[in-house]
Amino acid sequence: MKKVMTVFGTRPEAIKMAPVIRALTEHPDFEPVVCVTAQHREMLDQILGLFDIKPDMDLNVMTHGQQLAGLSSAILQGMSEIFAKNKPDIVLVQGDTTTTFCAALAAFYEKIPVGHIEAGLRTGDIHAPFPEEMNRLLTSRLATWHFAPTKTNYDNLIQEGVSEKQVFITGNTVIDALLQINDRINNGIYGDEATLALTHTERPFILVTGHRRENFGQGFENICTALKTIAGNHPDLDIIYPVHLNPNVQEPVKKILSGSNNIKLIEPLGYEAFVALLSKALFIITDSGGVQEEAPSLGKPVLVMRDKTERIEGVGSSVRLVGTNKETIINEAEKLINDKVHYKMMANIENPYGDGKAAKNIVDILCSNIIN
Ligand code: UD1
Ligand code: UDP
Repeated sequence: MKKVMTVFGTRPEAIKMAPVIRALTEHPDFEPVVCVTAQHREMLDQILGLFDIKPDMDLNVMTHGQQLAGLSSAILQGMSEIFAKNKPDIVLVQGDTTTTFCAALAAFYEKIPVGHIEAGLRTGDIHAPFPEEMNRLLTSRLATWHFAPTKTNYDNLIQEGVSEKQVFITGNTVIDALLQINDRINNGIYGDEATLALTHTERPFILVTGHRRENFGQGFENICTALKTIAGNHPDLDIIYPVHLNPNVQEPVKKILSGSNNIKLIEPLGYEAFVALLSKALFIITDSGGVQEEAPSLGKPVLVMRDKTERIEGVGSSVRLVGTNKETIINEAEKLINDKVHYKMMANIENPYGDGKAAKNIVDILCSNIIN
């Protein structure tokens, strides 16, 4: 039995790692060990609860208003100690966060091979998304196995000189999680009553999320002013916005958007409730990575508040990049609200991110590459 330690710390990593933990648990050749850094706390715990994941180790590093250097050193130090003591055979990390990169670096220092899930996404600009593009590049240099969701991601890694024997196209595990949760929703199994009530709204709504560091400051002010204008132009529809807990997001969003009748600012939602809202929304306005992958699966158009995206598969069909320019956000939203043909064009696309079997693919590949 090979001991495989999954390490993650934020909400999206937990959502995308949950199917992998499940696949490892079901596999006879692996002994899964779950370690969370808790770079996020409340937003991580929401996901752990939903997928019934009980971590074997919890670094509990989150502090309010944490900075990159302090967070990085806490994770590097903490993970080094855990790896030295627990000695896993393999470490699996996911995505592009500080947890991803620092856990991979700590594993490298302990000479433990790393598998990188969701590898090979690139914008080509080390400042966008920041610091995620650099986290991905550095994690790619540290990893032994690279699990690329799409052919584009695979090609990026090959171009950077990674051996084709070490890169595998697997699909994105977010689709595994999404399909699992959608099944539960379709069978009437929800989290709490309050979120259930929220999803029963009869009014049409736009769903909004946002948290990127490169948008802090003027970017978020522009986004909020645009949302306020859209809400003012359309009293017949709502904007539902679960606000990320980062204080750099909370502050401008609450300052500019509180008090608007048809803008509902709410706490971050449990994943079931969020997926239920995604399915019912008219369209989505977001700067999130994960939401860009989920929305096309549910046939929803997405306006992405970024100038560049590392998820280029949907751009030109279901996804429009609108940056943080107020006029562009308003114009593109108005087109989706008023132009039915345009809306239909953006809503009808095939999901490029996988078929819900990514986690099984990853675990099978690990098995055939390591055990045999
Ligand atoms: C982090 C990741 C980003 C990822 C995002 C997903 C880094 C540098 N950033 O950004 O790549 O896309 O998570 O959401 O790795 N907070 C809470 N409770 C929580 C979570 C956050 O209070 O459950 C607050 C804390 O004050 C914390 C702050 O948000 O200090 C920032 O958290 P942090 O993880 O550093 O940055 P995010 O913006 O969440
Ligand atoms: N999400 C959620 N509740 C919310 C907002 C988002 O469960 O209130 C989910 C969403 O479906 C997606 C993930 O969180 O799977 C995206 O997380 P986030 O936007 O924080 O990070 P990113 O994907 O940009 O790294």
